[in-house]
Amino acid sequence: MRIVIGLDVGTSGTKAIAMDTGGKLLASALVEYPMLNPKPNWAEQDPAEWVKASYEALSRLASEVDPAAVKGIGLTGQMHGSVFLDKDDKVLRNALLWCDQRTVAQCEYIHEKAGGEEKLIEMVSNPALTGFTAPKILWLRDNEPELYDRVKKVLLPKDYIRLMLTGEYATDVADASGTLLFDVKNRCWHTELMSLLGIDTDFMPTAFEGPEVTGTLSADAAAKTGLPAGIPVVAGGGDQAANGVGCGIVRKGIVSASLGTSGVVFAHADEVSTDPEGRCHTFCHSVPGAWHTMGVVMSAGGSLRWYRDTLCQEEIARGALEGKDPYEYITAGAAKIPVGADGLQFLPYLTGERTPHKDPYAKGAFIGLSLLHTKNHMSRAVLEGVSYGMRDSVELMRGMGVDVNEVRCSGGGARSTVWRQIMADACDAPMVRINVDEGPAYGAAILASVAAGLYSDVGEACDAIINEVDRLNPVAEQVAEHDRWFPEYQQAYQALAPAFKRMAGKLED
Ligand code: XUL
Repeated sequence: MRIVIGLDVGTSGTKAIAMDTGGKLLASALVEYPMLNPKPNWAEQDPAEWVKASYEALSRLASEVDPAAVKGIGLTGQMHGSVFLDKDDKVLRNALLWCDQRTVAQCEYIHEKAGGEEKLIEMVSNPALTGFTAPKILWLRDNEPELYDRVKKVLLPKDYIRLMLTGEYATDVADASGTLLFDVKNRCWHTELMSLLGIDTDFMPTAFEGPEVTGTLSADAAAKTGLPAGIPVVAGGGDQAANGVGCGIVRKGIVSASLGTSGVVFAHADEVSTDPEGRCHTFCHSVPGAWHTMGVVMSAGGSLRWYRDTLCQEEIARGALEGKDPYEYITAGAAKIPVGADGLQFLPYLTGERTPHKDPYAKGAFIGLSLLHTKNHMSRAVLEGVSYGMRDSVELMRGMGVDVNEVRCSGGGARSTVWRQIMADACDAPMVRINVDEGPAYGAAILASVAAGLYSDVGEACDAIINEVDRLNPVAEQVAEHDRWFPEYQQAYQALAPAFKRMAGKLED
């Protein structure tokens, strides 16, 4: 038997999966770790936690499958994070993560240096957003200059793990796109922008296409994981591009919606296409020679998790007693409430918002509470609010000429039938589930299988192993009801945005 592994260095944990040539899942392991929030808008992680988790997850796989049969390892992970390394590859400080919002001043500086947002979009296909990597590098320069002076390399989270596994500095074109220092059109580093910003071009590692081999498992990593030395380690992709591969979004006409911590609407593109206002991202795809556009809702599943953890102690306790997932009670409660939650709205901007607002100050809110409203209304409002955030992206893409006739739904949130139906009705598109829902790790394993020669290209691999298992169609009356409420959601943000910004200023005082 021939086996490939996908390793996903995620935000809440690192997941490793092993699959056979036919795409069958043979084993999987998840090792979790915390996120650190030293200030309200800050989000950091200690890269040592990722290393520990990656070794442990790979060791678990090595004990469940035949290590000698492993033909490749594909890497994926949370995008945009910054691992600052010194000349001895020592990590200089905790990594700033994709959801960290501290870099507003640096984003303004980047726009100014590039000659404006429009000019920057021309150069790197995207505007400067607080979560991206370039502003994080400049934040270090502005705020911790003694550390900045010692920086020799800046790696993305999964690429730091690659260094630990293979000893090589490398990345892939999809993850590189999210640094804001990458020429997305030409699939290479944008050295001109780097010099305009004063960022050393040597900081960034070599960028490879998703299914290219970047090195092999070192003897040291082999000893730590129980896998044999010499296994090819493949470039892989940032988590969204890898998830796109894992959902079969490798040709024009299929769109996916993933409901993980963040929510993403993702479309394949055969050519570079940008929103002139930069409200959705345009990045290289993990399919060689292709691109993708995506809209990002920062707190999708993250909103529901927050709601569960802060307001649903009863459901958590009941779940523990009855051996059920507390989300089952929350979504069942939401299903009893009509579309529009009797006028209760939820804005899911708990960690600011990217698409469509590009607003790091945006905050979450329940709007329209009255004595009529029950806990079930709040549950429904949370599910609808996140779905409306996703609809914002769907509408943007429709506006860019993307056909959104069918959406492949993935991620933890997509397991709920109630939520999938709300998504189908809110976005007026069928929500399709496929036979695998292993997320980015699965896409990374597919990329490794192409590198290992098990398939001739990514499209062929996806055709062979991915198929539809069920679909929920939109219900006309419910679509019409959402059409009545969605404008209220949009206007609620517009009304509150100035207050969010004012309040952020007071928090900083
Ligand atoms: C994508 C993004 C998130 C992170 C974490 O642009 O920021 O999806 O990659 O998953």
